[in-house]
Amino acid sequence: DWTTGNVIEEQVARIRAQVGDGKVICALSGGVDSAVAGALVQRAVGDQLTCVFVDHGLLRAGEAEQVEKDFVAATGVKLHVVDAVQRFADALDGVSDPEQKRKIIGREFIRVFEQAARDVVAEEPGSGEVRFLVQGTLYPDVVESGGGTGAATIKSHHNVGGLPDDLAFELVEPLRALFKDEVRAVGVQLGLPEAMVHRQPFPGPGLAIRIVGAVTPQRLEVLRAADAIARAELTAAGLDRDIWQCPVVLLADVRSVGVQGDGRTYGHPVVLRPVSSEDAMTADWTRLPYDVLARISTRITNEVPEVNRVVLDVTSKPPGTIEWE
Ligand code: XMP
Repeated sequence: DWTTGNVIEEQVARIRAQVGDGKVICALSGGVDSAVAGALVQRAVGDQLTCVFVDHGLLRAGEAEQVEKDFVAATGVKLHVVDAVQRFADALDGVSDPEQKRKIIGREFIRVFEQAARDVVAEEPGSGEVRFLVQGTLYPDVVESGGGTGAATIKSHHNVGGLPDDLAFELVEPLRALFKDEVRAVGVQLGLPEAMVHRQPFPGPGLAIRIVGAVTPQRLEVLRAADAIARAELTAAGLDRDIWQCPVVLLADVRSVGVQGDGRTYGHPVVLRPVSSEDAMTADWTRLPYDVLARISTRITNEVPEVNRVVLDVTSKPPGTIEWE
């Protein structure tokens, strides 16, 4: 019968059987799935695993540190960090089209990860030719892509999306039989940081698609500050479990007049986009308590000088999407 302990034991045995004494790498995104998958593989094969974290500079406040410090402390994982902040900033310079942003981020990520994988392999003495790549694939992903049956026959050689031939990996997918809430339970049991285990969905392209307009380091800093306040207040109000996610969006190309103290301001609005959803396919806007909204608004406009207006998105999906880009 299903217990978290059983799942961990079973997966650890499977991973060991699959990997043998081969070397494994795992890309950490800051999200739940890659963290739990990585922690499971670490539990199974220890230092045969190297986790790779590409810091693209598009995560929220504290999230890179969560991976680099808290996750490492909790798991003892061997971590290879790539500081790609400047590289992503250069690649995104002047780009405001949402799909362009996604393409650029996807492309750069593959390139940086490829190089990191080569570096990791080169650093490992006698690492042999068999290499494994951990993927945080969940059961719903398996079903969606039509591979729901015969879970035991997965492991022929896959060449993972876009990686070149000399970097062919065999996939290790320890979460393939699990639903999201089960993955979180496993994460808790493995001692992962709370904030990581209960993280709400967050898009791969990160804050880049929450800045309407071109992405600049300064705009990222503004959005990061506003977002941190909104998240802190929602958490303090005990609302995290009631909300699917709450994007905070910076309308970087919009300015409006405000007044603060004796002075006129000409700043930017941020949008709060709290949504309730089952699966992100449809969503409704969450009726947050007015006093919570008021606290978020007061704090953001007081503490983030570039923002002089906080607005609430009251659009369902459809017709709106959850993200603004
Ligand atoms: P939308 O905006 O399409 O978002 O209603 C639905 C869900 O998907 C997330 N999202 C993304 N996740 N890469 C991702 O990994 C993306 O490019 C992306 N765009 C949207 C969004 O946060 C929401 O949970």
